[in-house]
Amino acid sequence: TERVLSGMQPSADSLHLGNYLGALVNWVKMQERYDAFFFIPDMHAITVHQDPAELRTRVRRTAAQYLAGGLDVERSTVFVQSHVPEHAQLGWIMTCLTGMGEAARMTQFKDKSAKQGADAAGVGLFTYPMLQAADILLYQPHGVPVGQDQKQHVELSRNLAQRFNHRYGETFRVPQPLIPEAGARIYDLQNPTAKMSKSAASPAGLLNLMDTDKQIAKKIKSAVTDDGAEIRFDQAEKPGVSNLLSIYSALTDRPVAEIVEEYQGRMYGHLKVELAEVVVAKLGPIRDRTEELLEDPAQLDALLATGAAKARAVAGETLAEVYDKVGFLPAS
Ligand code: TYM
Repeated sequence: TERVLSGMQPSADSLHLGNYLGALVNWVKMQERYDAFFFIPDMHAITVHQDPAELRTRVRRTAAQYLAGGLDVERSTVFVQSHVPEHAQLGWIMTCLTGMGEAARMTQFKDKSAKQGADAAGVGLFTYPMLQAADILLYQPHGVPVGQDQKQHVELSRNLAQRFNHRYGETFRVPQPLIPEAGARIYDLQNPTAKMSKSAASPAGLLNLMDTDKQIAKKIKSAVTDDGAEIRFDQAEKPGVSNLLSIYSALTDRPVAEIVEEYQGRMYGHLKVELAEVVVAKLGPIRDRTEELLEDPAQLDALLATGAAKARAVAGETLAEVYDKVGFLPAS
């Protein structure tokens, strides 16, 4: 069976609808037919300051949301990045393979460092995509399921794999980005030309997995729509309505055209009310299950320890081969 690997940053108390539709939903499907590795990139999270106690809580909350969303530890290897030191070790080698210009072209770095001011941004923010390449390549996956915004980082991983193979001999599998058709890019409800993100300007634009039913309904009701009254999918002219239609489609597994057809002659308000019902029906049970899982943190930690042991077995093998190829002297 082919292998896939992916992860989501534990940098908020809740995953958001973009994480869910762009990533988690597909992971859950994939674990049925792939050898699947899903991890929590806590080392990536500290590229911007995290309160230590909060980080620990958020890692557990992210793990609980993975499981509540449908990941099954019998099928998938679920683990925390910092539990597998090979990530940092291979990360350094990837950093040494990467050109300054190549790293400077990463759009996520440009966005995030612009927000902080170029001099205030940490160096970790700059080297982050090289750590991500290590995350991926350690496990020799065939595919990396991510939303559209992570495509460039997966491309960098491909380039670094090819470069390493060329320089030191065939070592890494060159992975494919696996980007879903529906849900690859969910937009902010208040600002529907910007992607939905934890750093949203207004919390009202962000639908969280852990929101109450009331919060969900309120956020969808106050979502920015567009001039005119017609319900149709038109990203350029009607980004707000189009985003609502994309969410509807991704959550119900129905084509956008069919939903548009159903809403002909009806108003934005109808679409919003019914979409809120769809979202609550999907996310409500995940939220409740997450809360349940969080009542037993020791059990969660034990599951993560088992996952880390499985991950290390694979990562250790790749790293040993890499250390040898690079020319490091054996330690014993
Ligand atoms: P992160 O934590 O920002 O996002 C996690 C996943 O959610 C997807 N996503 C979205 N999809 C659709 N619409 C949106 N608005 C939206 N926002 C986020 C992302 O594409 C991603 O799939 N660098 C990664 C984490 C990472 C990783 C890895 C991923 C670290 N190492 C190795 C894959 C493989 C990140 O920050 O994702």
